[in-house]
This record gives sequence, C-alpha cells and structure tokens, in this order.
Amino acid sequence: MPVTVRSFAKINLGLAIGPLRPDGFHELRTIYQTIAPHDILRIEIKRGSGIEIRCKDPRVPTDASNTCYKIAERTMAGLKARGRVIIEIEKRLPVQGGLGGASGNAVATLLALELALRKRVAGAEKLQIAAEVGSDLPLFLIGGTVLGVGHGEEVYPLQDLPSTPCVIATPPIGVSTPQAFADWDASSLNQLTPSTPSDRMLEFGRVLSAWLSGSKNMQYSGVPARGRGRAETPLLDLVRTGIENDFEKVVFLKYPELRDVKRVLERAGAFYASLSGSGSAMYGLFRTLPAAHKAAEKLQKLGVPSTVTRTLTRQQWKTKFLVSNF
Ligand code: C5P
Repeated sequence: MPVTVRSFAKINLGLAIGPLRPDGFHELRTIYQTIAPHDILRIEIKRGSGIEIRCKDPRVPTDASNTCYKIAERTMAGLKARGRVIIEIEKRLPVQGGLGGASGNAVATLLALELALRKRVAGAEKLQIAAEVGSDLPLFLIGGTVLGVGHGEEVYPLQDLPSTPCVIATPPIGVSTPQAFADWDASSLNQLTPSTPSDRMLEFGRVLSAWLSGSKNMQYSGVPARGRGRAETPLLDLVRTGIENDFEKVVFLKYPELRDVKRVLERAGAFYASLSGSGSAMYGLFRTLPAAHKAAEKLQKLGVPSTVTRTLTRQQWKTKFLVSNF
C-alpha cells in the first residue's frame, strides 16, 4: 500500500562556520527550524527488487545519486526487507535552495518506508543512517527547533520557537553548498570578519547556553515586541541581536541581489531576516501575518518569488507528516 507524506523544509537561525576538519567537513553551529512549505512524497513497495525514483522536475536526479535512493538502500538493508521501492517526488521546494529539500526528502523516505513495511529502525541507527547520507538530514528526525553541531549532523532538540509568521523568498539561483564552503575557505577570513573561526564557535555557544540556562546575565535586548507589551522569546531575541549566518559573507559577494532581498525584508518590518543555509533562499520572520503578506507582495512586485508561511513546532511537524497510509 502506498504511503504519502509531507517532506517539510527548514531554515537556519544563524550558522557559524568553524575550522575545516581533517575529515573534509567544517565544524559548525546552527539552529535549524522546520517550516511549513514541503514536497509531497509517495512511497510504495512492490514485488521485485531495486529502487525507482520518479520526479517530473528535471533538476531532481532519479539515479543512485538521489538522497532518497541512498537512504532507501540503507533502510531496506537495515530492515532486511525485500521488494521494489518506488519513490514519487512531487517537487515544490526549490532545488539547491538552502531549505533542506533533498535532505528532508531522504528522511521522509526513511520514515515512510517504516510505515509501509510496518517495521522500525532503532532510533540510534536511524540517526546514523541519516548522517551518512548528509549533514543536514538528522535534524528532520527531530523537527521543530533543533541545535546542530559537529558538521551539522549532531542534533539536539531545543525548546520550540512558537509558530512564527515567515516570508520565504526563493530567487531563481542555485547555490552549491560544497562550493559555498570552498568560497569561504578561499576568502581571506580576516577581510570578512575580525573574529577567528574558534571565536565565532565560542560566541555562538555562549549565547546559546545563556539562553538554555535562562541566565539572568544574558544581555537580552529586553525590548518589548511591538504591540504585545512583552519581551520577545529569548531565542528570537538572541537570533535578532546576536546570531548571523556566516554564509552571507561569501554568498552575498557572489550574488549581491540577495543582500537587496534581505534589505527589502528588513524594511518591510522583519524582526530578523537572513539567508537560509548556503542559500539562495532568504527568509524574514514577522510578528504578524498581515506584515508578512505586505513584505511578500513587495518582493513579488520586484520579481522575487515569495511565499508567506509559518515556522512549525515539533508537534505540528509530527502531526502534519502523514498525508495517507493506504
Ligand atoms: O553532508 P553534506 O552532503 O551536506 O556535505 C556536502 C559537502 O559539503 C561535504 O562533502 C563538504 O565538502 C561540505 N560540508 C562542509 N562542512 C559541513 C557540511 C558540509 O565542508 N559542515
């Protein structure tokens, strides 16, 4: 019986790139946040063997290089299951957009296979399989607000951000993440930022642990959220005042039009606007839905495809995952 699921996207609330490690990955610190936009995946197991990927979008590979193929292969082996796996991807999210589309697709495949086969992969093995396929897959096993460390694959659930209005702008530019890391390495870090990679890691850790421990010494702005008469949640406050996405420093140099998108979002009232991952998707977080709609209209008038959506809490993400299981 086919299983149909939603494969949600993510944004990064800050991303600090650390030193290049001997294994070829960069140490990083980020906060992942799942959001409502999604692809739809339909997984079916038929008689026979092998894995077949179907997708009408020509930018999505249908061979063994597809993340869904890689994870299906590992999951079937892990479960000692037999059959021909058919994965149909209805692509709605941008490809190479920094929204974790391909990563989310892979994890959705793993979870849908478990449902289709009525068998479970142990939690620790799931995390391991996901991390083998890509650095930003494991976050999709947790959902909501997630801390990512290591090379992004080591994940910890954080206290959820409340569901927040959000504008996602998707300029038609594909950014390769390995290339963005290579550009980061090639550029003189001193020119880009006065701090060393280790300094930025430490700073990210400091603001985060202050938030997690509810430290009274944490220098929150304490500015009441407009119209609500109370301070913002500490996470939003620290994102707004203390966390940046390091990829902006290299990606904005290459694509200056993305910096303009960020400015439009900020001028339209976003309390935080940023590149997501290595881009090219940009997002703005807003206090109200009408404000988000106005910002999206402005961007659309400028020819930048933009949608209004919300961030998804862990619970929302879990309950909306399954479309049908028959
Ligand atoms: O794990 P993922 O497939 O997303 O990584 C693709 C490539 O991006 C890696 O081979 C590496 O070159 C680069 N990368 C990195 N540091 C990270 C994540 C990815 O250098 N933290």
